[in-house]
Amino acid sequence: MKKRVGVLISGTGSNMKALVSAGREAASLFEVVCVASNKVDAGGIAWAREQGIATQVINHKDFATREAFDTALNVYLQSQRLDLIACAGFMRIMTPVLITPWAGRMLNIHPSLLPKYKGLHTHQRAIDAGDKEAGCSVHFVTAELDGGAVIAQVRVPILAGETAETLAARVLVEEHKLYPEVLSDVTSLI
Ligand code: GRF
Repeated sequence: MKKRVGVLISGTGSNMKALVSAGREAASLFEVVCVASNKVDAGGIAWAREQGIATQVINHKDFATREAFDTALNVYLQSQRLDLIACAGFMRIMTPVLITPWAGRMLNIHPSLLPKYKGLHTHQRAIDAGDKEAGCSVHFVTAELDGGAVIAQVRVPILAGETAETLAARVLVEEHKLYPEVLSDVTSLI
């Protein structure tokens, strides 16, 4: 039996698509069984629905507090009997209400070489700092934003004349390879 993975997104969901497609390979140890979003207009949700994957939109604006939203999302995720959760461009600060039940089973991909550049605008910050390389990291989610243990990273050189956009595009290509690999590795351990 493949392990059941739920993916959390807020936007395009290109990493989610990479996970879905990796999970569909016959030899894969996992499959993406549901995709949830806090944004009604997340492009990735429509795509996942067309693919026949269970989807759920829970609009964070409908909730008075972060904890109330996190509780609703956790109820949905628990109902899907998931083995692992993969955050993929999920642009929410999560509280322990959501994180604690999934400790050690919730991963995130972040577009920097953590612990450098937690938070937003990672590529611009790397360029502004004069860094020679950037990259992406997959890490366990803890209550500290982008602060959980790093599982794996890929490094990408920063080229002359690089902009945040060109760098983001090259890092994203690596994200799409790294995340399915790490998910597969973690799946084999649980
Ligand atoms: C990716 O760069 C990811 O690392 C970051 O947000 C971006 C999401 O892109 N957390 P996508 O929605 O997967 O295309």
